[in-house]
Amino acid sequence: MNTLVTRLELKWTSLTLGQPWIMLSAVSKVQLSTLPPEPVIPSKKPLKVELVGGKRYSWCTCGYSKKQPFCDGAHKLKAQGFSPLRFVPEKDCTVWLCGCKYTNNPPYCDGTHKQEFVVSAPLYEPTDS
Ligand code: FES
Repeated sequence: MNTLVTRLELKWTSLTLGQPWIMLSAVSKVQLSTLPPEPVIPSKKPLKVELVGGKRYSWCTCGYSKKQPFCDGAHKLKAQGFSPLRFVPEKDCTVWLCGCKYTNNPPYCDGTHKQEFVVSAPLYEPTDS
């Protein structure tokens, strides 16, 4: 609160003194958003995958990968702030990995894809770019 008051006072002072460069320096320190980024939805169903025990996998968290459900590095260009979820299964297994990217038990499907916010959301269609 004190920081906000200080910034407002600084802005007011610069306006009254006719020094816009002070106002600009004060405004640049304000964060525009503290909300975490949200993934796009490449699939509204889980993906059945056979995993090899002891092998390292990278599950895509941003939704932009063209190798769903795994990461292809697309987050570096299209979704900075995201990073893949890395995991190593203990043994060979067949699992259902989340395709909607909104599971609460990543990387596994927990049924969240059946919720209205996923069902009604647009499906992300990858492009060639
Ligand atoms: S596909 Fe994401 S929770 Fe099922």
